[in-house]
Amino acid sequence: MSLIQLVYVSSAVRFMSDEELAELLRVSRENNARLDITGLLLYNDGNFIQALEGPEEAVLKLYEKICQDRRHVGVMTLVKEPIKTRLFPEWSMGFQNVKQMEAAELPGFSSFLTQSFTPENFRENPSRVTVLLTTFKKMMR
Ligand SMILES: Cc1cc2nc3c(=O)[nH]c(=O)nc-3n(C[C@H](O)[C@H](O)[C@H](O)COP(=O)(O)O)c2cc1C
Repeated sequence: MSLIQLVYVSSAVRFMSDEELAELLRVSRENNARLDITGLLLYNDGNFIQALEGPEEAVLKLYEKICQDRRHVGVMTLVKEPIKTRLFPEWSMGFQNVKQMEAAELPGFSSFLTQSFTPENFRENPSRVTVLLTTFKKMMR
């Protein structure tokens, strides 16, 4: 079965507490493990970026469900392409609350991040999102 990667940005409709995010992740990881889907979810001050990767059919079906989720709006697809290998093979859904990361964990990266982490920025230049995701992957090791 062919693999795809799908990346989108969206905005939470209201403040999400740590507990709400934890519950969202718990359900996501359980479902994704069953569906052979892996990826990364970033949350920064009301905005989400999520990468989903796995069998094409499963990813597209999950994405449809996610798009209908009323906890966020303005879902915009940035990347949707076939892949040979996964970027996040070990994570049923890696997660980082960007705002809560210590500045020490983000050497020279913090201000770039806060400035750039907006749907508008990635809408203008979708290729930036790949840089962002790869950077997080390295930092989260
Ligand atoms: C930003 C965001 C990301 C989500 N990511 C996932 C995900 O990776 N996997 C998943 O199963 N559900 C995800 N969801 C939740 C789905 O929209 C949906 O609520 C959930 O899959 C329902 O699971 P259930 O059918 O087991 O109750 C996400 C929701 C939001 C708002």
